[in-house]
Amino acid sequence: MKRDKSPVLPGAGATDYARYMRTDVLLGLQRHPDEVIHRDELLFQVVHQSSELWLKLAAAEVAEATARVDAGELAAAEALLARSTLAVRLVTDQLEMFRHLSPADFQAMQPALGNGSGAESPGWRKVQTASRKLGRSFADQLANRGIAAAALDPADPTDPACRLAEAMIEWDERVAHWRFRHYQVALRIGGHAPAGTPGSPATMLARLVEHRFFPELWQARLDAGGDDPGAAPL
Ligand code: HEM
Repeated sequence: MKRDKSPVLPGAGATDYARYMRTDVLLGLQRHPDEVIHRDELLFQVVHQSSELWLKLAAAEVAEATARVDAGELAAAEALLARSTLAVRLVTDQLEMFRHLSPADFQAMQPALGNGSGAESPGWRKVQTASRKLGRSFADQLANRGIAAAALDPADPTDPACRLAEAMIEWDERVAHWRFRHYQVALRIGGHAPAGTPGSPATMLARLVEHRFFPELWQARLDAGGDDPGAAPL
């Protein structure tokens, strides 16, 4: 029997898919071919707009993971944080699309971008705020349980606190991966001079690669027998 595909959902759109996914609105959010000053504006907008969507999901999952930490449900928090981590990996992969954007073409579309900068990304801001809250909540949980961060054993898969700490380390690492790839994009496409060159914004981008949301978890690895500054090099 043929399935009835006539829409039953309320709202605008010819199909229920269009109504639920709001495709008419979504696909109208890119500049029309008549108004672009360079055809690669579509590529540029698609990468940025889809990044904003994945970052929206990432921040929401970090926020929910934090709520689970506050409730003492560390295993649930770990599973939610894994979603955020995957979202940031996908955002990192999307930067590959800029291999198809030349510095000259990027330069040509600059007037369309005004004074806009990815540094104003609402998605990244939310990710940062949510991640800082997660760090505070986890520290509170450890304190409530009388566990020192240095006592967390990364090799213990049975302890939910250890597993969540590992997931947080990975989250930090994946964000740093994005930052490193983004730094390279700024050099390659943005035509910025490398880090250390006076006045280059790439200096700030390179410095941010070292940023960690959960420095105490990284420190705990050192305290647990990591790098000994006094040790002889291999
Ligand atoms: C052709 C592609 C891109 C170039 C050339 C580029 C370049 C830059 C530059 C030079 C900065 C330093 C601040 C400034 O001068 O405005 C910056 C910052 C930033 N950009 Fe991009 N960007 C690109 C794509 C993206 C994408 C796709 C995103 C994703 C939303 C993004 C997000 C950010 C963020 C969050 C910052 C603040 C620094 C940080 O938190 O690490 N950028 N970008």
